[in-house]
Amino acid sequence: MAVLDISAQAVDAARLRLGASAGAVEWIVADVTTWQPNTAYDIWHDRAAFHFLTERRDRQAYVERLRTALKPGGHAIIASFALDGPERCSGLPVERYDEGRLVAAIGNGFRLVEAHRRLHRTPWGAAQSFQYTVLQRDHA
Ligand SMILES: C[S@@+](CC[C@H](N)C(=O)[O-])C[C@H]1O[C@@H](n2cnc3c(N)ncnc32)[C@H](O)[C@@H]1O
Repeated sequence: MAVLDISAQAVDAARLRLGASAGAVEWIVADVTTWQPNTAYDIWHDRAAFHFLTERRDRQAYVERLRTALKPGGHAIIASFALDGPERCSGLPVERYDEGRLVAAIGNGFRLVEAHRRLHRTPWGAAQSFQYTVLQRDHA
């Protein structure tokens, strides 16, 4: 299993939280749009990173990495703000998605498995409308 984040601070916090189990994880500090995956995984779980990619070229770079790093038949779970979610996160603008927009953004070679909307309660008590979209990469 691997955890990737552009923020070394975020990776350190997650590693500390896992304690003794942290050794079972590969910890990667990288921008997902320039990261060079050297293996392929069964599951890609994006916990609200894709929605930060507001430039088309960055989304294309993300999808290229998703195609490299996810095995054929593997699943991608992508969490993002929903269409009625916040317009910004941590002061940065975000793209918002429903399953149709997300499927279109990821492009060919994936099929929609399921989609859910959920209200997420932040540590400071705010409610954020989230979209969880599950896609399966086509078998080779
Ligand atoms: C909403 S937070 C998720 C927080 C926490 N990692 C979790 O899973 O609950 C989104 C995370 O995406 C990371 N992120 C944003 N843009 C990124 C990028 N281009 N590449 C990798 N990580 C990115 C941020 O540093 C942030 O930690």
